[in-house]
Amino acid sequence: MLNPSNRAETHLLERLDLARLPRHVAIIMDGNGRWAGRRHLPRVAGHRAGVRAARQVIESSARLGIEALTLYAFSVENWRRPQTEVDFLMRLLREYLRKELPVIHKNNIRLLVIGRSGQLPVPVREELDEAMKLTEANTGMKLVVALNYGGRAELVDAFNSILGELGRDGQARGRVEEESISNHLYTAGLPDPDLLVRTSGEMRVSNFLLWQIAYAEIYVTETLWPDFNTASLLEALVEYQGRERRYGGLGPGRRAGKPQPGL
Ligand code: FPP
Repeated sequence: MLNPSNRAETHLLERLDLARLPRHVAIIMDGNGRWAGRRHLPRVAGHRAGVRAARQVIESSARLGIEALTLYAFSVENWRRPQTEVDFLMRLLREYLRKELPVIHKNNIRLLVIGRSGQLPVPVREELDEAMKLTEANTGMKLVVALNYGGRAELVDAFNSILGELGRDGQARGRVEEESISNHLYTAGLPDPDLLVRTSGEMRVSNFLLWQIAYAEIYVTETLWPDFNTASLLEALVEYQGRERRYGGLGPGRRAGKPQPGL
């Protein structure tokens, strides 16, 4: 929330160079179930608390001036959870949109959805479509919500889309370049994430943005997602700025956050 009376936030803000923020932060929000379990609450209570954490992180990221924030909200694998939990997550998403959309819009945030959204329940899809339409012209932070998302599924969809175009184009030479793959991903037009955050301590990427995180700095915290707040985000950003990014090269790397030459 970037609250000037919060000492932890103020202290971290002083250590942060606002001119060297990552352009794109991607987050694997993990640990809602464990958070609830530790409190002897049902898992869904953890998801509800997870929404509160998401709201705070979205608002703080937008205020800091981060260009894009991607949140992994529902994976292609998450359908395997009990139906009651899946239904609850879908309801929670609609509730979130209904409550938060005016704030998102007022803060000039643009909502985007990545994933096989065509397979989401119709009412969810409709509300997402409306929200994306409403915020389409907003020029502030891009809030990208990954829903029914899988990194491999995204690559399959990209390759099929490329193959479809090659088939239509009589002149096609049939060569695929890296740029062409990037341009056919759900994230086309967005910068690749500079920073990938994962909560709850697991050292996995869980099929998230597999192509796009090739050079991302990875930050894993033991904090469970519902406890992740503005101070936690600032901590991740401070740690990111202390990293040296080499992009596979030798010698002194670039301090994280410095623009790449030529870009
Ligand atoms: C992981 O916790 C979290 C999820 C399955 C995603 C749900 C995310 C939210 C409800 C946050 C809301 C996001 C938006 C954009 C409104 P888990 O159940 O896997 O936790 P566990 O590993 O401890 O069981």
